[in-house]
Amino acid sequence: MDALTIVVSVLIALTVYLFIKFLRADADLTLLRCSLKRNFFKDKVVWVTGASSGIGEELCRQLSTEGAKLILSARSMDKLNALLKSLAHPENARAYYLDISDRESVRRAPKEVQSLFDKVDILINNAGISMRCTFLDIEEDTARKVMEVDLLGTSFLTKGVIKTFMLQQGGGHVVNVSSISGKFGAPTRSYYCASKFGLNGLMDVVRLELLDKNICVTNVCPGPVKTAVSENAMNPGGSLHGKKDPMIENGMKVERCAELILIAVSNGLHEVWISHHPYLLMTYLSQWSPSLFHFLMKMYRRKN
Ligand SMILES: NC(=O)c1ccc[n+]([C@@H]2O[C@H](COP(=O)([O-])OP(=O)(O)OC[C@H]3O[C@@H](n4cnc5c(N)ncnc54)[C@H](OP(=O)(O)O)[C@@H]3O)[C@@H](O)[C@H]2O)c1
Repeated sequence: MDALTIVVSVLIALTVYLFIKFLRADADLTLLRCSLKRNFFKDKVVWVTGASSGIGEELCRQLSTEGAKLILSARSMDKLNALLKSLAHPENARAYYLDISDRESVRRAPKEVQSLFDKVDILINNAGISMRCTFLDIEEDTARKVMEVDLLGTSFLTKGVIKTFMLQQGGGHVVNVSSISGKFGAPTRSYYCASKFGLNGLMDVVRLELLDKNICVTNVCPGPVKTAVSENAMNPGGSLHGKKDPMIENGMKVERCAELILIAVSNGLHEVWISHHPYLLMTYLSQWSPSLFHFLMKMYRRKN
């Protein structure tokens, strides 16, 4: 065999390997190359918003097993207290009521949390609410609620936590559970997409502005994950959607999503995409070839 044949064979083998790996991927390939750093979370204080359900609840379970100290936040205190009792280390966790859409509560929250723990190493901005209606149907108050919870309240809480804790303690880590809806638009999710696109952009700015303050920012963009997000989404007038959604029901298991998030955080990744295909492929396509992506999306919409 001459040298050229060897090089071509190696390239073909590598391409086939990468193609198979990509077909089987449930996250972007950078994230899949990483593994959980041992003891990364041990004794770190982690504040998780939206801890009463779904991804936030599972993150708390896994973080507690990893030895983290936890602040669990949401509005449903009964669910938070039940979760707290079931954690691997309930003695290292506290429940703290927080409505992210209430500006005054968000402003007070970091100071109040100082009485629970004297530091916050990691803030996980996970609280979120979705919507199920078209742009033309949604009422203003419902649109504002989505933006308030998913973007504005979350951003103000982040500012408070950075100023109260992270700047004083010489660093910290902000993790944002955004969405692939923050990478490309999806019908009936107008303000949800707007808030998640906004969150990604805003937190990219925070990362750059606080580069010299030792503050790491990780944007997490999951595709469909099997949680109650569809039941908890809002109809045009703000009432609970209350229905399951086949896309979400067929989504990734919440345990796997939380596991991948913790791997991303422990490796200090800037942005990760967590999803099965076709949503993972769509995310790659939307980033690498926006024109082709929008062309295909329009073709698909016209046919369905
Ligand atoms: N599941 C998916 O397919 C998917 C995909 C991409 C991104 N995400 C994102 O993942 C995050 C978690 O969603 P999930 O799927 O786990 O949904 P979920 O089960 O509905 O959980 C949402 C969490 O947010 C909290 N929350 C809602 N409104 C709040 C408010 N005003 N103040 C404080 N907390 C509030 C809820 O707690 P209370 O109601 O007790 O306050 C709950 O703990 C969200 O940001 C969502 O956008 C989910």
